Amino acid sequence: MSLIKTESLNKIFTRGDEEIRAIRDLSLVIEPGEFVSITGASGSGKSTLLYILGLLDKPSSGRYYLQGNPVEHLSDAERAQLRNKFMGFVFQSFHLLPRATALRNVMMPLVYAHTTSAPLSEVEQRERALGALAKVGLSDRVNHRPNELSGGQRQRVAIARAIVNNPKLIFADEPTGNLDSKSGRDILSLFENLHAQGVTVLMVTHDPSIAERAHRRLVLKDGGLLEDIRGT
Ligand SMILES: Nc1ncnc2c1ncn2[C@@H]1O[C@H](COP(=O)(O)OP(=O)(O)O)[C@@H](O)[C@H]1O
Ligand SMILES: [Mg+2]
Repeated sequence: MSLIKTESLNKIFTRGDEEIRAIRDLSLVIEPGEFVSITGASGSGKSTLLYILGLLDKPSSGRYYLQGNPVEHLSDAERAQLRNKFMGFVFQSFHLLPRATALRNVMMPLVYAHTTSAPLSEVEQRERALGALAKVGLSDRVNHRPNELSGGQRQRVAIARAIVNNPKLIFADEPTGNLDSKSGRDILSLFENLHAQGVTVLMVTHDPSIAERAHRRLVLKDGGLLEDIRGT
């Protein structure tokens, strides 16, 4: 069964009496275990598509099936639950809590996971978060706050937070966009490791050298799919 399937997705934003078609008639299938990059000019709809697929936003029309199930009838709580259990998100600007340590930031999704299963004890939450921080090579920075970390380290905290619930699907929106090229390559290899472990990765990027590391490249233009290149 396909992990993601969309049929003629459209997203229209209205600003005053102006209508912006951010996504146009976009049909797409993504199988479990794929590593997909999404490129395209600024304003081509990359973030909008990622947010719709990540259940952070809703299309104006069209269908979206996640693991074969249509998502349009899900309540906000069900969408939040799916995101928390099943998906991880990484953003260009990290989106960390500034006053919280790396450890606390990574524990956050576990704190909010209560609705789905028995709550983890604080000790278990710490253990899980420490494990995720170890996977991104930050065991020696768990008590640092974001402003005491480099950009690359902040992004690694964000990745640890994204994987702490063992998601099947990771969405990353320009994850290397604020990083120097060395840190960017380190972050990319973390995504490659996750992919090698079976996680499906969808990554928006501006950087062609990063895009071509993905196994499938989607190119968006004016909200539509311009190219879908496999087997690179
Ligand atoms: N919340 C919004 N309200 C109005 N227009 C938006 C909104 N979000 C995005 N857009 C518009 O939709 C188009 C696609 O935006 P976006 O998906 O952010 O592009 P990209 O990520 O490829 O740069 C752009 O024209 C943008 O201005
Ligand atoms: Mg964007």
